[in-house]
Amino acid sequence: MQDILNQYDTVNEADVKTWFEVGTVCDFPENSGACIKYKTKQIAVYNFTRMSKWYACQNLCPHKMEMVLSLGMIGDKAGVPKVACPMHKKNFSLEDGSNLTGEDLKIAVYPVKIENGNVYIGFAD
Ligand code: FES
Repeated sequence: MQDILNQYDTVNEADVKTWFEVGTVCDFPENSGACIKYKTKQIAVYNFTRMSKWYACQNLCPHKMEMVLSLGMIGDKAGVPKVACPMHKKNFSLEDGSNLTGEDLKIAVYPVKIENGNVYIGFAD
């Protein structure tokens, strides 16, 4: 189980080696999540139109190791965009992956860019 979790590491835009095309803007529901696969990783992608932003993070919730974060509700906590896991409602920042209730859980986040109507997620491998 730990091996599955260990493959997820936050990628900063400066460290991107591969911009992986995951579809067009129209393929993604507004203010909701979708799941894509990159190599062995499941990545949740959010078209957060209410904030005019896109976010990507690991689909794996580190609480009980469930592949569910793409099904989570998105919103914000004091202006910080977040996803709430649908299982037990742990909240994670979509900006830096931190747990917003102060628990020692975090998720990996990935940069997203939109070019010519296509959606790309940045990976360091
Ligand atoms: S599995 Fe996500 S909060 Fe428990």
